[in-house]
Amino acid sequence: MKTPHVFLMCPPEFFDVSYIINPWMHGNVRKIDNALAKQQWRALYDILTDCATVRLVHPQPGSPDMVFTANAGLVMGRRFLVSRFRYPERQYEEPYFADWFLDRGYDVSLMPRDIPFEGAGDALLDRAAGHLWFAHGHRSVLAAKEVIAARLGAEVVALRLTDERFYHLDTCLCPLEGGHLLYHPAAFDAPSRAAIERLVPAARRIAVGEEDALSFACNAVSAGRTVVVNRATTALADELGRRGFEVVQTPLSEFMKAGGSAKCLTLRLDES
Ligand code: ARG
Repeated sequence: MKTPHVFLMCPPEFFDVSYIINPWMHGNVRKIDNALAKQQWRALYDILTDCATVRLVHPQPGSPDMVFTANAGLVMGRRFLVSRFRYPERQYEEPYFADWFLDRGYDVSLMPRDIPFEGAGDALLDRAAGHLWFAHGHRSVLAAKEVIAARLGAEVVALRLTDERFYHLDTCLCPLEGGHLLYHPAAFDAPSRAAIERLVPAARRIAVGEEDALSFACNAVSAGRTVVVNRATTALADELGRRGFEVVQTPLSEFMKAGGSAKCLTLRLDES
């Protein structure tokens, strides 16, 4: 079913693992099967164009991680807050993403240079609750919280990540339609787990175990009742099915080697 959702993606023309900035990249430098990566990206693109609109940004040589458009920045209506990447390797992407949004008439603002913030990798809008979940601990810093709140006029709930395999919020938490929340509790510190339990009713929480978390089941693209993931166990797919979601699995092994999968490869543009 076609939903009104719009996603930004970047073709994997120059995708590679050419440096190591997260644990998933270890041992994977220059180990990408390019033909397979292109085929996997295209399969995700095809699934999303069936149920949403997909826009594209031109890939840039020298920015192998630019495929992960979730990290471009944060969209709220016609406002776009450009990411400030923690590692220099990804800072080259910043002007390209900023230009894409400027060219389309967005009100674009920049992070202060000394405040790393990695966009929708670390800030996810919970439409049912009306707030943004924001995570710090690995890439974004806590100081980004105030900047996001001020620039985008959003209510922000800060969570702290503690397991370096889940270095971005979108690797371990995903707000779904109807107030459901998919998350891997072990990726957060105790106060953050308590905050999630306080803000999301038990009946709406879907705690994901390590097996699913490690295959990036929380890194899901949510488009209406469709949930697109790299892989999910039957138990998780059934659990989501009982809540009215249809799980679509599409292998993204080549992108997992860089530490990303379905959700990281997309940036939702229709956020308000
Ligand atoms: N190699 C990329 C990095 O470490 C992967 C980014 C994945 N993106 C995400 N939103 N989790 O920055």
